[in-house]
Amino acid sequence: MYREIRKMTAVIGSASVICPASPPRARPQVGDFLALDLGGTNFRVMLVKVGEDLDGQWKVDTKHKMYSIPEDAMTGTAEMLFDYIAECISDYLDQQNMKHKKLPLGFTFSFPVRHEDIDKGILLNWTKGFTASGAEGNNVVGLLREAIKRRGDFEMDVVAMVNDTVATMISCYYEDHHCEVGLIVGTGCNACYMEEMCNVELVEGEEGRMCVNTEWGAFGDTGELEDFRLEYDRVIDEGSLNPGQQLYEKMIGGKYMGELVRLVLMKMVNENLAFGGEASEKLKTKGSFETQFVSQVEGDSSDFRQTCNILRTLEMQPTLADCQAVRMACESVSTRAAGMCGAGLAAVLNRMHKHRGDDILKITVGVDGSVYKLHPAFKDKFHATVHKLTPSCEITFIQSEEGSGRGAALISAVAYKMASLIGH
Ligand code: BGC
Repeated sequence: MYREIRKMTAVIGSASVICPASPPRARPQVGDFLALDLGGTNFRVMLVKVGEDLDGQWKVDTKHKMYSIPEDAMTGTAEMLFDYIAECISDYLDQQNMKHKKLPLGFTFSFPVRHEDIDKGILLNWTKGFTASGAEGNNVVGLLREAIKRRGDFEMDVVAMVNDTVATMISCYYEDHHCEVGLIVGTGCNACYMEEMCNVELVEGEEGRMCVNTEWGAFGDTGELEDFRLEYDRVIDEGSLNPGQQLYEKMIGGKYMGELVRLVLMKMVNENLAFGGEASEKLKTKGSFETQFVSQVEGDSSDFRQTCNILRTLEMQPTLADCQAVRMACESVSTRAAGMCGAGLAAVLNRMHKHRGDDILKITVGVDGSVYKLHPAFKDKFHATVHKLTPSCEITFIQSEEGSGRGAALISAVAYKMASLIGH
């Protein structure tokens, strides 16, 4: 049985299984699925209806509710965090009048995990400000199942756990069958891609491809980025909840972008290059320059009205020159992030091109995340870097809509079907 599940995990890792055009090895189980999405400061519960139309094409309908995760649940104990998650699910089921149903559930869990089965993953380490104790080293699906059991007011059949990059790739694959890369540039940053099985040492078999979650946010943790990291990066890292970890992510992700800008501004103040050499208590406070301010400043018109308002909320009295300086600081930080992220994706695509041997690699990248979607200039600068560094690739970027939830439900739909086929 273990071998079968292992094989199943590999097959589900391969996008071909959910391709309606090429013969799928298992049709999806049609019906209602619950999808959970945990990976940032918000937690989403989603009801996904997977259906088939008359031509056998998949249809996916979703309804979701967002819950913000209280600080004490993020940083308390695993039991507190998963009890809160179970409470949100219970609330959502009440609202949808579905408490009586034991639905199959797909869990998008966006942290580094060692997968042992499609429904079993050991949390390696928390990222993005989560520290809930008692979770690292444990099976996350087990923690969820226990919390649901503790509540006792509903039942769920947890069938699959996936990373958000994988869910994004799968949900985009559903629209474009060239989609073999998933990328997230949001609170955190990461990518997955379809690797040739012959290069995947951990799994038996040489045929076909399998999805590899790179967890590239951790690039640099063994010194690779030392030539590129600046004093601001070091301050961010030292003051973080996971010092020495996720160093590449800390140069790109939305969790850190605003704070990087604030540190640059403080340096300008200290060197008497802006704000007459004076900073308010607010500007001196860690976290006060939010990442959304970076987007707002860079999206501002030439009168700097928005920038001025933001700085006033930080109790600063900016001149026009100060506003220009703030804009330049924002642009420097976000342009560097776009370049760094673009270089990472180009490395992945060039590797895929080399291993596949085609003259030109025609590939689609499914992307999600607040920095990519909401920042006014990130996307274009990022695309420009990727194109420049991948002369042998023809790349299409598609933005995923609710990819985390939809992807998790699609994977669950296939896993559910396959489990019933092999009498699981
Ligand atoms: C996590 C990844 C995740 C990424 C984007 C990182 O901090 O380690 O698993 O894919 O954030 O959410």
